[in-house]
Amino acid sequence: MQSNDKKIALVTGANKGIGFEISRQLGKQEITVLIGARDESKGGEAAEKLQAEGLDVESIKLDITDISSIATAAKKIEERFGKLDILVNNAGILLDGGVNPSNLDLNVLKKTFETNLFGAFAVLQAMLPLIRNSHAGRIVNMSSTLGSLTDTLDPNSHYFGYKGLAYQASKAALNEITVQFAKELADTPIKVNSACPGWVQTDMGSGDAPGTVEEGADTPVWLATLPEDGPTGGFFNSRKPVPW
Ligand SMILES: NC(=O)c1ccc[n+]([C@@H]2O[C@H](COP(=O)([O-])OP(=O)(O)OC[C@H]3O[C@@H](n4cnc5c(N)ncnc54)[C@H](OP(=O)(O)O)[C@@H]3O)[C@@H](O)[C@H]2O)c1
Repeated sequence: MQSNDKKIALVTGANKGIGFEISRQLGKQEITVLIGARDESKGGEAAEKLQAEGLDVESIKLDITDISSIATAAKKIEERFGKLDILVNNAGILLDGGVNPSNLDLNVLKKTFETNLFGAFAVLQAMLPLIRNSHAGRIVNMSSTLGSLTDTLDPNSHYFGYKGLAYQASKAALNEITVQFAKELADTPIKVNSACPGWVQTDMGSGDAPGTVEEGADTPVWLATLPEDGPTGGFFNSRKPVPW
């Protein structure tokens, strides 16, 4: 097992997009980063890119919808490091942008929840014993303002007219995971928060998005590296609390 001094981070869905940039920004803070990727070759390529930048990064196979993949990843991290300091539950899918609720296919709703909610929950639960071994565990759930009930009910919000029940409900439910785990872990050093990256240029966000991945990664990286007196059980965008 490696020395316990260096912080170890796991970022799910980190082979591209915001997760990749989160990995880069954490790596620049002298943190060992495990790039979670369901496709081993894509994970390996992503890790090589960041290694070429001099960062301490490696890939780990992790399909968050596959319980055995999650268990294998947790076992590997335990054997190798004995702890996990940072978990960024970043992997996510958006399958129903623009779809009216009355036209939403039940299978799309189920598939979305399998990844965005059940997958995030299963990874968090499996990694928690390792996070408890950290002196300052930090858990970040990648949510979205599209999952804010306040925003979706506010006619003045940019997101008022957005249609994507499956995605939006999955992120609203993910926020409840944040609240429930934060409450359970309130007496521990572990902090659990939700982050919205803003609307960001990625395969999911499209080229029309105003934000860069660098901007999108900023708030989750801040939450992943909060000091001891930082918040827990909150929902943040641009490092500021936002309504649930
Ligand atoms: N982009 C935005 O504007 C925006 C706004 C708000 C919130 N978010 C959230 O931010 C997070 C990252 O989004 P992004 O824009 O970077 O999306 P992206 O470019 O589409 O990347 C999504 C990542 O998740 C991975 N993934 C999907 N299903 C997975 C599974 N079952 N197991 C493991 N990995 C899986 C993908 O892997 P593959 O390459 O193998 O598909 C990919 O690495 C998501 O949770 C998203 O909901 C994004």
